[in-house]
Amino acid sequence: MTQQCIQCKARYPLTQVLYTCAACNDLLEIISDAPARNDFGGAGVWRYAPLLPADSRRAVTLGEGATGLHRCDRLAAELGLAALHVKNEGENPTGSFKDRGMTVGMTHARTLGVQSVACASTGNTSAALAAYAARAGLRAVVLIPGGKVALGKLAQAIVHNARIVQINGNFDDAMRLVHELSSSNAGVYLLNSINPFRLEGQKTAAFEICEALGDAPETLVLPLGNAGNISAYWKGFREFRAAGLIKRLPRMIGVQAAGAAPIAEFLRGQRTDCRMDDPNTIATAIRIGAPVSWKKALAAIRDSGGDAVTVTDDEILAAQRKLAATEGLFVEPSSAAPIAWLLREKPQIAGPVVAVATGNGLKDPDAVLSAKPVLLQSEATMDGLRRVLEL
Ligand code: F0G
Repeated sequence: MTQQCIQCKARYPLTQVLYTCAACNDLLEIISDAPARNDFGGAGVWRYAPLLPADSRRAVTLGEGATGLHRCDRLAAELGLAALHVKNEGENPTGSFKDRGMTVGMTHARTLGVQSVACASTGNTSAALAAYAARAGLRAVVLIPGGKVALGKLAQAIVHNARIVQINGNFDDAMRLVHELSSSNAGVYLLNSINPFRLEGQKTAAFEICEALGDAPETLVLPLGNAGNISAYWKGFREFRAAGLIKRLPRMIGVQAAGAAPIAEFLRGQRTDCRMDDPNTIATAIRIGAPVSWKKALAAIRDSGGDAVTVTDDEILAAQRKLAATEGLFVEPSSAAPIAWLLREKPQIAGPVVAVATGNGLKDPDAVLSAKPVLLQSEATMDGLRRVLEL
């Protein structure tokens, strides 16, 4: 396997530390010239070791992957869908899909022999980076946007002993700074999803879905922020098809929050590039104005006949409650964005639809509690209890 530029196709060995192409500065991806092997074994991300650019015997792991693909028949009936499945990535060790990328990225970091790893984050990447760095015995540095990270995610970075820097700016500012820091300081290895080793781990979620369904779904819907995950899924589906393990490729639908929708707006001709200033949404995980992997995301959307779409914050919060109350799945606001889109559009799709729930709802309880839930009050007596329950 080698690293290859998606634009000029320049190639670099896996052990060369680069975050973008040295020749043209575009994004890198990992490619393999060897015929794909499918001698998979075990469960989770490392089941797919033959398709990963890291040594599974040296894996820095917390048991990530092998998350549930939950068939949601009652919600599907409401939506008029033949079959809806939710891939619940909140079941990962730190509660989000980031763990898939982090196990591969951190394993590679240890192979390289670096001392420190770093990321910019809206919260989940910092939680995963901090946990996996602790597991690997490496120092973790995380840059977060001041005041906009959900409490549970911040607590995770704190407890795993990361050095946390709140930037007086947004995620895009933090991303720019950490990229510059790691590019100019060889001792600090960048583990954002611009790093193609991260995406290699994340593509395994697509493999799991294909193995569970026996083919790719007809449509995959997932939240779209920095645009790494949609790129990783698309790469995974293409690799499984190239290996003859599935027959079709899914349509890829990326869902952005209306206040942070540079890619959706670009596709509708409302902006000249995939960037915007001052993104804003209650779904802080995807509060991103300058997605680093926009080019890979556009390729996934265009090549699959998909789209990037938007939902409002109110639609996101309603979808979060709907999914939790109808199917027992508590996901964070950003992860409810695909459900919000399905609820509003009720698209006619004959084959199976998979909605990716990227993060666990417990990470961001404020989003639920801010809706001022009604709690019944009772004296500590049976009479009192019967009265408030009206039984
Ligand atoms: N869902 C959740 C829960 C996320 O945390 C993120 C990104 C996304 C979706 C979007 O994925 O960026 O690959 O398009 N979170 C990053 C972070 C930015 O720092 O935790 P993407």
